[in-house]
Amino acid sequence: ARIRRYKWEVKYEYKSPDCYKKLVITINGKSPGPTILAQEGDTVIVEVTNKLLLENLAIHWHGIRQIGTPWSDGTEGVTQCPVVPGDTFKYEFKVDRAGTYLYHAHYGMQRESGLYGSIRVSVRDNFTEPFAYDYDRSIILTDWYHKSTYEQATGLSSKPFVWVGEPQSLLIQGKGRFNCSSSSLKADTCNTSNPECSPYAITVTPGKTYRLRVASLTALSALSFQIEGHNMTVVEADGHYVEPFVVKNLFIYSGETYSVLIKADQDPSRNYWMTTNVVSRTPVNTSEGLGFLNYYPNHPRRSPPTDAPAGPVWNDTAPRLNQSLAIKRVFVFKHMYQTDLKAHHDFIVTPPTTSDRVIVFLNTQNEINGYRRWSVNNVSFTLPHTPYLIALKKKLHHVFSQTPPPEGYDFVNYDIYVQNPINATTTSNAIYRLGFNTTVDIILQNANTMLAKNSETHPWHLHGHDFWVLGYGEGKFDKNVDPKNYNLVNPIMKNTVPLHPYGWTALRFKADNPGAWLFHCHIESHFYMGMGVVFEEGINKVGELPSSIMGCGETKGFGKP
Ligand code: C2O
Ligand code: CU
Repeated sequence: ARIRRYKWEVKYEYKSPDCYKKLVITINGKSPGPTILAQEGDTVIVEVTNKLLLENLAIHWHGIRQIGTPWSDGTEGVTQCPVVPGDTFKYEFKVDRAGTYLYHAHYGMQRESGLYGSIRVSVRDNFTEPFAYDYDRSIILTDWYHKSTYEQATGLSSKPFVWVGEPQSLLIQGKGRFNCSSSSLKADTCNTSNPECSPYAITVTPGKTYRLRVASLTALSALSFQIEGHNMTVVEADGHYVEPFVVKNLFIYSGETYSVLIKADQDPSRNYWMTTNVVSRTPVNTSEGLGFLNYYPNHPRRSPPTDAPAGPVWNDTAPRLNQSLAIKRVFVFKHMYQTDLKAHHDFIVTPPTTSDRVIVFLNTQNEINGYRRWSVNNVSFTLPHTPYLIALKKKLHHVFSQTPPPEGYDFVNYDIYVQNPINATTTSNAIYRLGFNTTVDIILQNANTMLAKNSETHPWHLHGHDFWVLGYGEGKFDKNVDPKNYNLVNPIMKNTVPLHPYGWTALRFKADNPGAWLFHCHIESHFYMGMGVVFEEGINKVGELPSSIMGCGETKGFGKP
């Protein structure tokens, strides 16, 4: 195993990702930032210097479980104090499983200003993956706002509430195309011939097969991704191999990663469109994401002769639920390895058949003292000033509420199809404490928002673990019936999973990773509005905390020696 070292400088710069000029957070001058390339078992060391002038910083390594290094999870308020302007922070962690992962800001709503990138972990030597391809490529899909993060966050926490609205455009690998002529913007602010916003092109050699790693880090949008004239075979999801299935369009939610195989087997005399479009929310003038599948030797900027294909209709939930249901785990057998790999976690393939604890999370939108919030079991989450990991380890029990949050909701009487009638919502920073090594089931239950006849898609992401996805369903979860249909044979393991409108999603995980871990909706504004919880497990097994994560709240005294 090797050590991969990176030195990053994070700052604001004027850029035009979708042809509109605004402040973008860059890493070493780029957004998306550099791709971290490593091999299973390697150690990654990233030294980040905060050159943002006026903002704090924290970077999360999305999908990396941080086994033995919970302080490197990069979750401000949970695992560390923020990195203040001028400071340098060192993240160090092991990438213990091959797959497609991400990194992104985890301070306020900073992620959507452009601070994100890919982590690609290749398999160990002598390991044969369960599928073949010639080349490996990565893209990240995002949505893009012209208002600053600061303005958006202020609106969300104001009375009256100011919603962020729909994004102005969709980006593919940091490039998009806003329709500059739709507004009276001057050419120095918005210019569609700016090369900075020329569509992202993936160049392919005719006849070859490509593994395309597709990830989404949208702030809000659920997406459909498609490549004109090419089917995609899904083979990996969140670092786990999938029983291959073919799609024309891939639905992808913020925080998810997939690998698809595509064969460059179409007419090689031209290029093809790659597009993304919004699903699950009413489209409001969001410019679709456009990129090129560039057949060598055509020019990578040559537009395809066709119109960009329209994606699926936005408001049809059924095909999205069907894709979720189609994702099954393919097993990786020991004989695929020619080396001794006792530590390889992929061998734990099937979930325990029973769980020790079932927690139901009802997802609702509420109003608290006139402030619009999201809640779980009527509790809207707030972060304490002292990060949980430090508070728990140092037994600073007064820094967050010790009243345990609710394990469920009024199951019998709650009507998930009406505008949320509950006004008794509270905010809290209390956490769920899990017995170490116990098996925990989480049932995510969706409901109507405060708008009539409206339920949203929420991609839930768990830090520090992968979970088995036991099932999805429509309507209200029935604890007497639905568990009988759980997939205990070949459920996929993931770290991010969608909760579909008016539906439920059931997960199982083992609380076997000592630390404090966030579980939250990956929609930036939803988490900001309280849509999350924190789990603690095995805190007494956490090693000595590095002093670099301290210095804020009640940890001031624990800072530098
Ligand atoms: Cu990718 Cu807590 O986030
Ligand atoms: Cu959400």
